[in-house]
This record gives sequence, C-alpha cells and structure tokens, in this order.
Amino acid sequence: MRILVLGGGWFLGRAVAQAALDRGWEVTVFNRGRSGAAPEGVRTVRGDRTVATDLARLAGEGPWDAVVDTSASEMAPRDVLAGAHALEPVAGRYVYVSTVNAYRGWPSDPLTEDSEVLDGPPDADVEYGRLPDDWQGPDWYYGRQKAGAERATTSTFGKERAVVLRPGVILGPGEYVGRLPWWLTRAARGGRMLAPGAPGRSIQPVDVRDVAAFALDQAAVDRGGAYNVVAPIGRDTMSDLLTACVLVTGGNAQLVWAPDKLLLDHDVQQWTELPLWRTHEGVWKVESTRAQAAGLVCRPLAETVADTWAWLHGGGVPVEHPRWAEHGISPGREAEILAVLGR
Ligand SMILES: NC(=O)c1ccc[n+]([C@@H]2O[C@H](COP(=O)([O-])OP(=O)(O)OC[C@H]3O[C@@H](n4cnc5c(N)ncnc54)[C@H](OP(=O)(O)O)[C@@H]3O)[C@@H](O)[C@H]2O)c1
Repeated sequence: MRILVLGGGWFLGRAVAQAALDRGWEVTVFNRGRSGAAPEGVRTVRGDRTVATDLARLAGEGPWDAVVDTSASEMAPRDVLAGAHALEPVAGRYVYVSTVNAYRGWPSDPLTEDSEVLDGPPDADVEYGRLPDDWQGPDWYYGRQKAGAERATTSTFGKERAVVLRPGVILGPGEYVGRLPWWLTRAARGGRMLAPGAPGRSIQPVDVRDVAAFALDQAAVDRGGAYNVVAPIGRDTMSDLLTACVLVTGGNAQLVWAPDKLLLDHDVQQWTELPLWRTHEGVWKVESTRAQAAGLVCRPLAETVADTWAWLHGGGVPVEHPRWAEHGISPGREAEILAVLGR
C-alpha cells in the first residue's frame, strides 16, 4: 500500500504514519514542519495545505492508494475541499478524521453512527458557525466546521471512496492536549486526590494507536462510511482511569470522590480543570456498533495509561502546546474542595 498522511509528525498523524510503516506500507507525510517530527522511514513533503501551489506540488508526488487526513482540526471546510480536489485524481480513497462534535446531539444526547450531523457546507470559510461573544446556547462552531469538512471529502471522493472517522477523546503516548498527562502527574504527586463525579461513570476515551490502526484498516478496504471511534459504552469508568493512574505512578495518591453537585457549586470547569469530567447526559453515550463490526479494537484503558506514563517518563512533552496549560485544577482549589469533603 502507498499511503499519504496529512499531518504525520504529531500525535494521531504520527501514530498513523508509524503504524503504516509497521505494516510495511510506503508512507508519505505532508506538513509544514512546525509540530513534531515524523517517524524515520517516511517520505516527507513540506507544505501548507491552505496554499494552492503547495497542494499542486503535493499531488505531483502521488499517486497513493489512500490519504489519511489528520491535519484538519482547525481547517475551514473550503480548505479541506481544495485539498480533496487536488488529491482526488491521485488518491484511491480518503479517510478523514472528524470528531463526535460533528453531531448536533453531542454532548447532550446519546448518539449512534446514524445520528444527525450538524449543518456546515463543504465550501464554508472559517467564519461559518462563529458565535457571538454573548452566546449562551450550545457551542457548535467546531462541530459545524468539522461537519462541513466531512462533506468536503465525501462530496469529492463519493460515498464509496470516502471514510469519516469520529473519535471522541483520544489519549495515549504523545498526547499534547494534556488530559491524561495531567491526571498522571497529579497522581504521582500523591496525597488525597480529588476525583470527579461518580466512580462508576462510564467514559469512552480511545487510544491513539487504536484510532491509527482503524484508520489504516479503513484505508485498505473498498468501502466508505462514517464510524464513531470510541471505546464501547460502559467498558471503562472514571474509577478505572484514575485507579490506573494511581497504580502506575506508585500508589501514593488516595482518591477522594466528589459528587458533581459539589464540584459545580465550586465552579470547577468541566472538561479542563478535572480532565474528562463532564456531566452532560450524552457525553459518554456514543455507540460505536458499526466501527466495532468493521474491526475497531480498543486496547485496555490500563495499557493506555501505563504507556502514556512511560512516555512521560521518557521526557515526552513533544513541544510546548497552549492546550497543555488549559488543564488541571490548582493545588489550592483542590485542597479547598477536599477540605469540604472531610477526611
Ligand atoms: N486529539 C483529540 O483528542 C481528538 C479528538 C477527536 C478528533 N480529533 C481530530 O483528530 C485529528 C488529529 O488531531 P491531532 O490532535 O493529532 O493533531 P492536530 O493538532 O489536529 O494536527 C496537527 C498536524 O497537522 C499539521 N498541520 C496543521 N496545519 C497544517 C497546514 N496548514 N498545512 C499542513 N499541515 C498542517 C501539523 O504539522 P505542522 O504544524 O508541522 O504543519 C501536525 O502534523 C484532527 O482532525 C482532530 O480534529 C482529535
């Protein structure tokens, strides 16, 4: 197989490139050379996917059996459309990495792979879906942009040659967002550790290497479709995650569970101050029946935790990333809430 990875030097794209090399595939990566480094053994084409001449130059390096697009997290649909048009003549298939945010119902409602996707035209610019500063309703900007980008790829490659992957939260070695790294670092500090919500609350993070493997599987089969790339509902819980963090970091922290209401009363920011804690009804009710039937395998959460800790110990912050700093409650605020919970 000859594969083109848009991205390739950073988190998911790097994992895709590495997994393709491990399969013995011929791998080309395309990025600007600003974030991270691609694995050894790939062919690198440098360029900016929002620049038409760079796209034309990239297309001249083809053909490929498939493209895996991991570099469009903040890309206007019309830029994704331009890239898809440039690559369609030289690529057999297109696997676009979208997100569960593309669903109108996320995170409030339970979802299946057939749930309604947000509006978002394939040629929308970066302003499409932008919300006024005083907007109080659901924040659909990112989802609308990703939904438009999905349509950009499916309308160009057609339903049989286009695959859309919708992961939720991706964890694992190389995670630059800082969610699991924060929990691990907190657990390593030891002592009484604030644990959010109900211990048995289901969570569905997916390992970056499992998303990569599934993306490659879909790149290689002659079938299009959209898949939710998340762990099965109910398999893992918040307690499983935090207990694994405590165990792998030496067992010096004691989990102290705080009910949602107490955290909300203290204005703890969901998703960021205590990563992965979110009280919306549908956030972890994302069915992945079709993906599982198509071969999605999600490794045990404890393995993701252990490997991420091993990566962190190896000095693993890839580059300074602003999102890293968004995560984690301060020791002072944590102590304040722990004091309310007593001993
Ligand atoms: N992380 C998650 O938890 C999560 C969850 C759901 C979905 N997703 C989706 O998964 C995909 C991968 O996400 P990620 O978090 O691994 O990485 P990311 O930050 O979305 O992707 C960054 C990669 O894209 C390249 N890139 C960015 N702008 C570019 C441009 N204009 N031209 C060429 N290359 C460009 C970067 O390399 P250079 O900077 O070197 O160009 C880097 O390799 C995204 O589409 C994201 O929306 C992620």
